[in-house]
Amino acid sequence: MAHTMSPVIHNTLAGMLGQNLVYVPFPVQAGELEAAVKGAYALHILGCNVTVPYKSDVIPWLKELDGMARQIGAVNTLVRVEGGYKGYNTDMPGLFRAMASDGVGIEGESVLILGAGGVARAVAVLMAQKGAAEVIICNRTLEKAEILVEEVKAMQPRTQIRALPLAEQESLKGRKYLAIQATSVGMHPHCDAAVVEAPAFYENIHTGYDLVFNPANTRFMQLVREAGGKAYNGLKMLLYQGIIAYELWNGTAVGEDAAKAVYGRMKQEMGIK
Ligand code: ATR
Repeated sequence: MAHTMSPVIHNTLAGMLGQNLVYVPFPVQAGELEAAVKGAYALHILGCNVTVPYKSDVIPWLKELDGMARQIGAVNTLVRVEGGYKGYNTDMPGLFRAMASDGVGIEGESVLILGAGGVARAVAVLMAQKGAAEVIICNRTLEKAEILVEEVKAMQPRTQIRALPLAEQESLKGRKYLAIQATSVGMHPHCDAAVVEAPAFYENIHTGYDLVFNPANTRFMQLVREAGGKAYNGLKMLLYQGIIAYELWNGTAVGEDAAKAVYGRMKQEMGIK
């Protein structure tokens, strides 16, 4: 889905801002990543996005690496520099900007992250960097959450962070969390699924972000709202990761009016009113 949405984001922006650019998806076969990066450079391509499953694998083929991308360990945006590409991660700044546009802050928050995969890792780094008071990594497999906790502690030693097995989520009772749903559960076509079904769990959530954006109204979001919390999907994060990439490629700032217009196009594309 992200693969089909990026051309919409960038081609709409280029059209609106009057820039002579075109964004085209290129599928890359396994084992051809180095050739693809070098080929793009030889073709004088201004920049690229890299998506799953190459976000970490692309790093050895880059000329430079931005600090945040290094911490997260994943790159989604390549910006042309002298002799090659510089790698950035705009997914997490994208989430940060999406949250800001929804009026949701991170500083001083108690944050609950569901999942401990690559996406959850990036979210944990962002939350630690932006001054969350407490971060809990809640995952089905405790060991994976524990590894992530140690990695984040090594980067941000002052962050209060701990792991919690999903099976022990009831121990969260009594606190209100900003929750980030960072697993693939509930993604199309498994729209009826949520990582946790128990309605009582959702009473602990004042604001829930599901990084899934298809469907637009996930089961997780429904459960958060039913318990009285605010809920958002991952479409705005997708919008802003694209906008930040566009800004890096073109050295321009994209205003909120243009962002809103692109967001409208994305929703149209997804059939959301
Ligand atoms: P990504 O890199 O996109 O984050 P991933 O590394 O495959 O993807 O991680 C997926 C996350 O979703 C993991 O945290 C996984 O939990 P486990 O570590 O226990 O495997 C979580 N996940 C996937 N399906 C799940 C399910 N049915 N219930 C609970 N958690 C699930």
